Amino acid sequence: MGIRKIVVQGDPLLNKKCRPVTDFNKRLHNLLDDMKDTLAQANGVGLAAPQVGILRRAVVINVGVSDEEDEYLELVNPEIVEASGEQTGPEGCLSVPGKFGMVTRPDHVKVRAQDRDGNWFEAEDEGLIARCFCHEIEHLDGHLYVEHIDRFLTDEELDAYYAGLEEGQSLRDAEEEN
Ligand code: NI
Repeated sequence: MGIRKIVVQGDPLLNKKCRPVTDFNKRLHNLLDDMKDTLAQANGVGLAAPQVGILRRAVVINVGVSDEEDEYLELVNPEIVEASGEQTGPEGCLSVPGKFGMVTRPDHVKVRAQDRDGNWFEAEDEGLIARCFCHEIEHLDGHLYVEHIDRFLTDEELDAYYAGLEEGQSLRDAEEEN
């Protein structure tokens, strides 16, 4: 197990544009393995290399997070090649601990990336994982989701959201009912 320290908001490393990965070597494999361990320990959905202080374009996502079984997807030099639809929901970040904000993202996203050995592949997903693709790739360009929000959600708002709002019912509707 290699747990790395997660950098938090305010650290300039999170605002830097990361360089492409060019060497698909043991050093990269160690980084990806450590990112996976760090993500698992933090119970997160996704982690980008700059969040552990490495300014390279690499991301690990737990694509099995909605199922019972964790399954990790490694994306090296990822880019979004297709995006469609729209979703609005609470979003958080391991580098902004304990906080959430409502962010609108595409609902369906296809990415192109390299695996740890340099082979190109495509992956597509919807909902939470589509949101995660967008969030993590933004990290690689030095951006945090907080740039998309006016304010953080209150605990009550977050509880209300997760209490199971009817599909299509917005947070504003929920507030008006109270
Ligand atoms: Ni994040």
